[in-house]
Amino acid sequence: MSDILRRGRLASVPDEEIINFTSSMNADKWIFKADILVDLAHTIMLKERKIIKAEDCKKILEGLLTIKEEGIEKLDHTYEDIHISLESRLIDMVGEDTGGRMHSGRSRNDEVATCIRLTLRNELLLLMEDVIALRNTLNDISSENLDTLMPGFTHLQHAQPTTLAHHLTAHANAIGRDLERTRDCYKRVNLSPLGAAAFASTGFDLDRERTCKLLGFDGLIENSMDAVSSRDFLIESASVFANLMINLSKMAEEIVIWSTSEFAFIELDDRYASTSSIMPQKKNPDTAELLRGKSGDAIGSLMSLLAICKALPLSYNRDLQEATPNIMQSLETTRASVRIMNGMMATMSINKENMAGLATAGFTTATELADTMVRVCDIPFRTAHQIVGVLARGNGEPTLGEIDAVAHNVIGESLSSRGLTEEMVKEALDPILNVSKRSVIGGPSPDSMERLIESSRERIANDTQILESLITDRDSAIENLFSEVEKCIDV
Ligand code: ARG
Repeated sequence: MSDILRRGRLASVPDEEIINFTSSMNADKWIFKADILVDLAHTIMLKERKIIKAEDCKKILEGLLTIKEEGIEKLDHTYEDIHISLESRLIDMVGEDTGGRMHSGRSRNDEVATCIRLTLRNELLLLMEDVIALRNTLNDISSENLDTLMPGFTHLQHAQPTTLAHHLTAHANAIGRDLERTRDCYKRVNLSPLGAAAFASTGFDLDRERTCKLLGFDGLIENSMDAVSSRDFLIESASVFANLMINLSKMAEEIVIWSTSEFAFIELDDRYASTSSIMPQKKNPDTAELLRGKSGDAIGSLMSLLAICKALPLSYNRDLQEATPNIMQSLETTRASVRIMNGMMATMSINKENMAGLATAGFTTATELADTMVRVCDIPFRTAHQIVGVLARGNGEPTLGEIDAVAHNVIGESLSSRGLTEEMVKEALDPILNVSKRSVIGGPSPDSMERLIESSRERIANDTQILESLITDRDSAIENLFSEVEKCIDV
């Protein structure tokens, strides 16, 4: 059949290069299934509003179900997009007098916006599942390592002793916020633009609320001009993904550092490592490096989306077609990265001895020693800071004698005269006591961490419930859509 789109208004046909440049068929694979759902819902509504006859509705729906079964491969890929190619296939199957009625009161502009939202909605639900799994893994490793000592860092310099649980629950917390952001963004994604048509809605008596409900959307993008032209939901999603990828890339960076011979805190399972083509001894943490690198894609996608949308006049502009591949790419990378990080973390081996061995390297207990001076000797913290700072210039941890000598220079008296004992110094320099004393909310003491993990698990249980209900809502809407389809076919 001749091109159902161009045959009226346009005389010449684009050559291959123009088709490749303008077609979205490649990216539209992503929205094929959604497009079928949109067509089904729109057709049912057209029949209910008596815009098309019941027998045409039946034939269109049957045709759409067949196209769904046949898959995207059967469609004519020389069309400029999936919507028109799908319609053309339908017309081939059921004839123009029937199939040609499906697009009444609709434009590809509201159609594509609806398809992207439906597809993205599914992906966000899957992403939330993956993120919850990663959080669970981080909590599991943390509960097994409540008293696994390690040095904590600031400026990547040894700072104070902490525990692996403290370190990993920090990442788990950040990932928890990513989950909240994803869920929040879902609310603005799951809205229906359908019925907006090209931008000015339509003179057909459409029921927008009905298609909204049939597709399981939570509400409408009401203004029909806004409905077809806004892609802020994509910018928001891409920003959520970029944020999540940044959090993951920070974890990946630590995996790389912790895998070095200098640190040797962890060893990745072999399946996440690569070796060298020349240096047979090498075990490289390539998977973590790639994840770190791929975070750049997520940032890039966000930047592209911002640039594509910037200064577009209302309403629909074809530039918007370029937005879709960006969100797809960012999503694919982000979802894969979450799962890969989960696997890397769950399977890595932890070298507790090396971690503990370095917990006090670089005089990480210096703060506790200064704090002890303040508590026992009643000197100002700033003075204690100076005394311990001078001691830190020396080699290793100081004795009471050395402390007294420096104190004499700084305040003109020894600290032992103010009650400091050898035992107190020893305790201050003990990394286990350093950690167990830090029992304020969120501190590294095993008790604090146990509480934190417990409340994190409660939050995860709650998040899982919310996610399950979002999935159930979506599933029952789609189930209902198909049973409405059956009803229309069974007449
Ligand atoms: N492929 C197009 C897109 O992704 C579909 C909408 C086309 N609309 C149009 N007026 N040419 O945006």
